[in-house]
Amino acid sequence: MADKPHASGRVKAGDVTQRVGVEQLEKRGIDVDQLIEKLVDAAGAEFTTYYYYTILRMYLAGNEDYKEICEDARLEDRAHFELITPRIYELGGTIPYDIRTFADRAGCPDAYLPGSENGKRPMKNSRDIVTHVKADDILEVLLEAERCAIRTWSEICDITFGKDLRTFDMASRILQEEIEHEAWFIELLSMEREGVARPSGHFRRGDPGDAPYSKNRGFYNP
Ligand SMILES: [Fe+2]
Ligand SMILES: [Fe+2]
Repeated sequence: MADKPHASGRVKAGDVTQRVGVEQLEKRGIDVDQLIEKLVDAAGAEFTTYYYYTILRMYLAGNEDYKEICEDARLEDRAHFELITPRIYELGGTIPYDIRTFADRAGCPDAYLPGSENGKRPMKNSRDIVTHVKADDILEVLLEAERCAIRTWSEICDITFGKDLRTFDMASRILQEEIEHEAWFIELLSMEREGVARPSGHFRRGDPGDAPYSKNRGFYNP
């Protein structure tokens, strides 16, 4: 009978306390505990950014084109959260049980609305909204959030490249969209603030939330 070198390994047959999918990463030099921590921080940033972009999109009042592009970036962040979170569990981890812990752990700063005093603005009544907020200030917040995301996913790609193909595939797909997002907001901010054309190459997504790279439509569509 032919030799079957992969029929057994360090993890014993029937042992559900260990994962060959993790063992093989460790064998290739991945610190899986550290990777899980970084993925939780990154997932937290996607989740909180999705929340803050909801506010930022609302306050791009009067700029339908900016609103639409902000909406694409917002829904794609939700897709990024959805894509990467199951991977944390596959690796044996979990996201925090308390959403406050999750938000505090987010690897990127809160994308506060300009004029909201870093989110601390007291409201005299329920309709005491920020009324003087400039589109270019919002676009700068959006731009810097995308830049943090690019740094985050580039690091995950570096850690996993050639070793953890599954996490790498997810992170690289997210990274591709983050790079697009940065280009979009450079284009919009440059023209809005300086009147200078710095084209991004963007036209428009099909439908909002299409997330062409990160939407795991084929086999996972929550
Ligand atoms: Fe994202
Ligand atoms: Fe983004």
